[in-house]
Amino acid sequence: MHFLPECDAVEFGFSEEQLMIQDIARRIAQERIAPSAEHHDRTGEFPLENIRLLGENGLMGIEVPDEYGGAGMDPISYVLAMIEIAAADGAHSTIMSVNNSLFCNGILTHGSEAQKQTYVRAIADGSQIGAFALTEPQSGSDATAMKCRAVRQDDGSFVITGKKSWITSGPVAKYFVLFAMTDPDKGARGITAFLIDGERAGFHRGKTEPKLGIRASATCEIEFDGYVAQPGEVLGEEGQGFKIAMGVLDAGRIGIASQAIGIGRAALDATVAYAKERKAFGQPIGAFQMTQAKIADMRCKLDAALLLTLRAAWLKGQGKRFSAEAAIAKLTASEAAMWITHQALQIHGGMGYSKEMPIERYFRDAKITEIYEGTSEIQRLVIARSETGLR
Ligand code: CAA
Repeated sequence: MHFLPECDAVEFGFSEEQLMIQDIARRIAQERIAPSAEHHDRTGEFPLENIRLLGENGLMGIEVPDEYGGAGMDPISYVLAMIEIAAADGAHSTIMSVNNSLFCNGILTHGSEAQKQTYVRAIADGSQIGAFALTEPQSGSDATAMKCRAVRQDDGSFVITGKKSWITSGPVAKYFVLFAMTDPDKGARGITAFLIDGERAGFHRGKTEPKLGIRASATCEIEFDGYVAQPGEVLGEEGQGFKIAMGVLDAGRIGIASQAIGIGRAALDATVAYAKERKAFGQPIGAFQMTQAKIADMRCKLDAALLLTLRAAWLKGQGKRFSAEAAIAKLTASEAAMWITHQALQIHGGMGYSKEMPIERYFRDAKITEIYEGTSEIQRLVIARSETGLR
């Protein structure tokens, strides 16, 4: 049992730097993002200006070292900043998490110096948007069932053909980390990662998906039709793509757990304020035990999710294995966010169901955290495999 693997002390304090980035994120979240969150949700308009501002303040590449245009901070700082942005608007935090975890993280870990300079810098400073292309119309959880093919040519380049779906930031991204089959006979070991330029011939974007929540984070299908990738655009080694994807998703799950905590915290804060103000049967509804029990359970689930997420982030920062702990954090936090927003809506009654208040948006936004970057079922599979060693 590794409750706190190789950890002989629990430290609950944050460093000055961690609190500083949390403060920067909170200020931007409250002053710039929260006031326009309803507009972005209603129109689905991509919040480009706000994303640029987040980039200028180091929030699009929090763990990216200074020399590649990032903030050079640790995974705990990433958690704290993500929570603040997500509490203001889920969609902004989705764009932020893909740029930070799924795009920059994989290139920092597996990319060459030239790749870091070209791809990471532009995304970390917010001047461009990055995306991650793993899922296909017929393969989501079963990621190795991908059909997108990259065929090596005599000159060492690859010709890519196929479709990827549900690509977050797909309609606006300049660069993509793409996973394609280079050797279908080898299954997971036949997948290779590529760095793709969305402005090059052979790359097409489909229509933007209409979604239940996180509506301002544009999502679309992308298609490759004879796209040519040069040898220098392979990320890591040929055949190493699936492991790169899994490692990147481990880190991504810390980001989605943080997003879920932010959404849940916003719902809890709104509920506490409403329960103190709204009266029924001659007293504030917060004085009724049925409301109090819900509020107490909301707080417990939120704290548990936060501590588990900080544990996973701490392990990552220490360079230790954190796959199972990231899955535990994501599973706990996403289910907490769904439960909390559900109860928040119930306590708000008709007002919770109305678009006059943000509660119904929190409820819609929370749902995606149980689906993307590995469904709750996949998190349980990862956790159970780690516990039992069976597969
Ligand atoms: N880190 C490194 N390597 C890993 C790994 C990890 N976390 N997990 C597995 N691997 C390695 C294994 O060791 C194995 O290597 P060998 O071939 O050397 O033995 C290889 O990868 C294959 O592993 P499995 O046999 O375990 O693979 P599997 O087919 O059983 O699948 C899975 C495992 C956990 C179900 C995986 O497919 C998975 O996580 N699926 C979910 C995919 C997912 O999260 N998709 C989200 C899409 S992205 C998204 O949502 C982005 C967005 O836009 C927001």
